[in-house]
Amino acid sequence: MALDLTKNHVEQLLDALVEQGWYEWPNAVTDDLCSALLAEVESYDEEGELKRAGIGRGDKHQLNQDVRRDKIKWLDGNTTTQQIYLQQMAELQYQLNRALFLGLLEYECHFALYKKGDFYKKHLDSFRGRANRMVTTVLYLNPDWQPDWGGELVVYSEDSSQRLAVITPEMGKMAVFMSEQVPHEVLPTRQARVSIAGWFRCNASIAGQIDPAY
Ligand code: OGA
Ligand code: MN
Repeated sequence: MALDLTKNHVEQLLDALVEQGWYEWPNAVTDDLCSALLAEVESYDEEGELKRAGIGRGDKHQLNQDVRRDKIKWLDGNTTTQQIYLQQMAELQYQLNRALFLGLLEYECHFALYKKGDFYKKHLDSFRGRANRMVTTVLYLNPDWQPDWGGELVVYSEDSSQRLAVITPEMGKMAVFMSEQVPHEVLPTRQARVSIAGWFRCNASIAGQIDPAY
């Protein structure tokens, strides 16, 4: 189940992050691990443990259904499945630091479930200069995703004027991008859409609070 980071697209990922700020990584994580993660999300949903996501941090935190509609649960590493995923992200953190000198200190991530009709309008995950969230990852957990189901991740140019990519949320795929530079949005989905959104940070974790988005 291990992710072989030396062989599996890591060179392309590092080049793309430097050159364009984002990368679409097919088969970043095995189907076995994705299926196990998906099963966790499905049981959290049944147990009512997924909560409406918000925007803004601390005092400014608010639920804004016009901006985002997903339900989330932060990973706490309490299951073996989560530990395996977090270990793989630790390896990725090491590679990013080694090649790009980003000084990433930790990783925080949440499961996200977008039900039919849900979306997340165009936003940035972090504001420049806050030395906060540096690199975003989004792992998709949806087997047999159909092209007409919507729910794509749209990646925009830094000035928001151009659509650079439209990424379908297929199982095992990971979108990776620079959190301060890449505006992005989730188009309305027509089917349940499950992912793990995560952030490498260069300061202490505030897991459970959500960074500004606009
Ligand atoms: C986010 C986000 C993108 C996606 O959670 O901040 O932009 O494709 N997610 O789920
Ligand atoms: Mn985002």
